[in-house]
Amino acid sequence: MRWHYENIDYTQINRETIKNQEFLFYLITSASFIEITSDVYEKNLVTFYKGDEETIRWLENTWEPEELQHGKALKKFVNTVWPEFDWEKTYKRFLDLYLPHCTLDEFQPTRAREMLARMVVETGTSTFYKALENYSKDLDTPILAQIAHNISKDEVYHYDMFEEVFKKYDKEEKLGRDDIIKVIYDRLKMIDGEDGRLSFKAIYEEKTGKSFEDSLYEEHKANVRQFAKKYYPYNMAIRMLLRPLKLNKTVENISVPVIKGALKVIGI
Ligand SMILES: [Fe+2]
Ligand SMILES: [Fe+2]
Repeated sequence: MRWHYENIDYTQINRETIKNQEFLFYLITSASFIEITSDVYEKNLVTFYKGDEETIRWLENTWEPEELQHGKALKKFVNTVWPEFDWEKTYKRFLDLYLPHCTLDEFQPTRAREMLARMVVETGTSTFYKALENYSKDLDTPILAQIAHNISKDEVYHYDMFEEVFKKYDKEEKLGRDDIIKVIYDRLKMIDGEDGRLSFKAIYEEKTGKSFEDSLYEEHKANVRQFAKKYYPYNMAIRMLLRPLKLNKTVENISVPVIKGALKVIGI
C-alpha cells in the first residue's frame, strides 16, 4: 500500500472547527460505510472473474485491502470528531438494509462490460475524494485533506488497473462505441443509488431517533449539488469517463465542455 492510515496524526484535527458541520459528517460517515463494505463487492467480483487468477489475486491482495483502508481511515476520522456517534451500531443498521442489494444481478452481462462499469465507479470515487480534498482545504482541515488526497490517488490507480483488465477482455468482446457508451451511461445512473440513500437513512435514524423520510434525503442531495458545484473536478471526471472511447485529442477537447454543460443542466 502506498500509505497507511496508522501514520496519519489524527490528534492534529481541530475538532472545534468542524464538529458542527453536519453535512460533512453525513458525507464522511456514509463514505466510510460504503468503503468498509468492499469485502462484499470483492467476493462478488471474484465469483464473476472465476478462473482469471491474475485479476483475482489483484482484487484480493491489493484492491480489497486498499478499499478497506479507505473505510478505516474515514471511520477513525468520524470517531475522532464525533465520538458521541455510535459508528458500529449504525453500520450494522446500514448493513441490514444494504446487503440484500449486493448481488451478482447488479453486474453487467460480460467481463469487459463489468470492467467498464468498475471504471465508472472508480471515476466516481476518485473525483468525489478530490472534491472532498478541495472542501477540506476550505474548512481548514488539513488532516482530512490529506486522507482524501491519498484515497483519491488510490481510486485513480484502481481505475487504471480495471482499465487493463477491460482491455484484456475487450480483445475478445470488441465492444463498439455504442456498447461502451451504454455501459457508462447505465452505470452512471446507478451512482445515485441505494448505497447513498440507505447509509443516509441509517445515519439519520440512529442520530436523531426519528424515522427517515425521502424528503430529507432530497434535501441532502440538494446540499450535495451545492457542494459539487463548488468543489467537484468535472474535467477530471469527464476525461476518465471518455477514455475507453479512445477519442482523438481534438474530439476529446471539444467533448469535455459540451458534456460538462450537459451534466450541469441535468443537475450532476
Ligand atoms: Fe475506496
Ligand atoms: Fe477504488
